[in-house]
Amino acid sequence: MNKDIQEVVFSQEELDTMVCRIAEKINADFADKEILLVGLLKGSVVFITDLMRKIKVPCSIDFMSVSSYGKSTKSSGVVNVKMDLSEEIEGKNVLIVEDIIDSGNTLSAVLELLESRKPASLKLVSLLSKPSRREKEVTIDYLGSEIDDLFVVGYGLDFAEKYRNLPYIGVLKPEVYL
Ligand code: IMP
Ligand code: MG
Repeated sequence: MNKDIQEVVFSQEELDTMVCRIAEKINADFADKEILLVGLLKGSVVFITDLMRKIKVPCSIDFMSVSSYGKSTKSSGVVNVKMDLSEEIEGKNVLIVEDIIDSGNTLSAVLELLESRKPASLKLVSLLSKPSRREKEVTIDYLGSEIDDLFVVGYGLDFAEKYRNLPYIGVLKPEVYL
């Protein structure tokens, strides 16, 4: 295990099970349809690439980059589109893929923006959710797991751009970020 990790919250096997369960639901719900997965950079990259390999319906992907925490562990509440989608989404079945919903500020702004572009449908997929920290209500259509108010890293999730490469999700030792 990485020396900065205090405890593993989700092992590789547990993450694989979560991703399989989400993919099966999407495959069933969109059985005769085509979908567009929209990954929010950078946190969702590991999750979206694992998820798409388990999707059986015709599928394409696109990416979008919105403001992040930077080096702090708290959301600023300000959402800024740093990189927009490469294609139009009008008339498409769009699934936003996010790593974690914390305050919900980022996602509620992204949902509002994408909804205004008139997709045929717009759903939200998130690997994790911290319901105790919610400031804006968002409906998560496909969720891996809820977690307590812990700052986690790994499987795409970072602290100051590090630890995204860990194949599991864990909690950092307090001395790393304090
Ligand atoms: P929200 O706007 O507060 O919901 O922020 C969501 C974004 O904050 C996520 O996409 C993550 O990039 C980041 N984030 C929230 N919680 C964590 C965490 O525990 N570890 C790493 N990043 C997090
Ligand atoms: Mg993110």
